[in-house]
Amino acid sequence: MVQEFLGKEENVFQGRSILAETSMTPAEMEYLIDFGLHLKYLRKHNIPHRYLEGKNIALLFEKGSTRTRSSFVTSAVELGAHPDYMGVNDIHLGNKESVEDTARILGSMFDGIEFRGFKQSTVEGLAKFSGVPVWNGLTDEWHPTQTIPDLMTVKENFGHLKGLTLTYMGDGRNNVANSLLVACSMVGMNVHIVTPKELNPSEKHVAIAKKNAEVSGSEILITDDIDKGVKGSNVIYTDVWVSMGEKNWEERVNLLKPYQVNMELMKKTGTPDDQLIFLHCLPAFHDTNTTYGEDVYEKYGIKEMEVTDEVFRSDYCRAFEEGENRKHGIKAIMAATLGNLFIPSVALH
Ligand code: CP
Repeated sequence: MVQEFLGKEENVFQGRSILAETSMTPAEMEYLIDFGLHLKYLRKHNIPHRYLEGKNIALLFEKGSTRTRSSFVTSAVELGAHPDYMGVNDIHLGNKESVEDTARILGSMFDGIEFRGFKQSTVEGLAKFSGVPVWNGLTDEWHPTQTIPDLMTVKENFGHLKGLTLTYMGDGRNNVANSLLVACSMVGMNVHIVTPKELNPSEKHVAIAKKNAEVSGSEILITDDIDKGVKGSNVIYTDVWVSMGEKNWEERVNLLKPYQVNMELMKKTGTPDDQLIFLHCLPAFHDTNTTYGEDVYEKYGIKEMEVTDEVFRSDYCRAFEEGENRKHGIKAIMAATLGNLFIPSVALH
């Protein structure tokens, strides 16, 4: 049997960057979802998995983060690597030094680089010029280290992905919507983007999803009709209405108010309770216990935004399991692309 593998690739992921869902084939995405669940099992059972012993990981953050930062730091340590956090004011990237020059220096000292920031071109430049695997921890366009853990959470709850329907409520053009649209279409999940017409996903992202769907059999629906969009959903997903740095709060809040996830909307799915969950990438504005929440309440009289406190605290909600899965999914991505593991091929099952 050993002879069979001689001369073949020893790891199809080795040295690769994960910059978007489009960095992977559908089979590779499914592999990372399952590998993430396996690594979660190892962690829960205190089974060592130090696949990155002695490696150095650079963590570049232009924006704040709780889950992504914590996931990369704790995963790197549990894999045996050393993570170094570099905030926007810690290094010269973009101010005194170009992406190319920064990438060349970091690539000469670190074995892998995570980037969270604004431009997709920055993470692509880091990958192009560093010579080491680069992982997208969120850009304006994509959030792949979110969707792999999201689909891990769906698989944990339902045991499978194909044929399930995920409905995303809210801004259909944001990074999470783009990533879910493409990720679900890759793994054969139906994906509904329920959004005001003004916030429809771009033609580019819809075209990628439709092409995937031709192979996977998923159904793609982009609509502003809430009743039609939520019907038959297994997963209701939403994200914040106003992202970091956005100024046009009033316009966006008024536009997105009808798309709030509340109990009435959950019931409109018509799905039995044991076949329906709620996901949110977090952080969520479900009460006034934040500065943002307080501000919005003072200005617009709204105590809850994209999801009501009732849904957020209900049995439907798996957002905290999803948040924990960020860690295990990100660990899978780092280990597969940098860990010299024996993964000679992957196939859809
Ligand atoms: N969902 C997400 O990216 O969380 P953080 O902003 O806390 O990293």
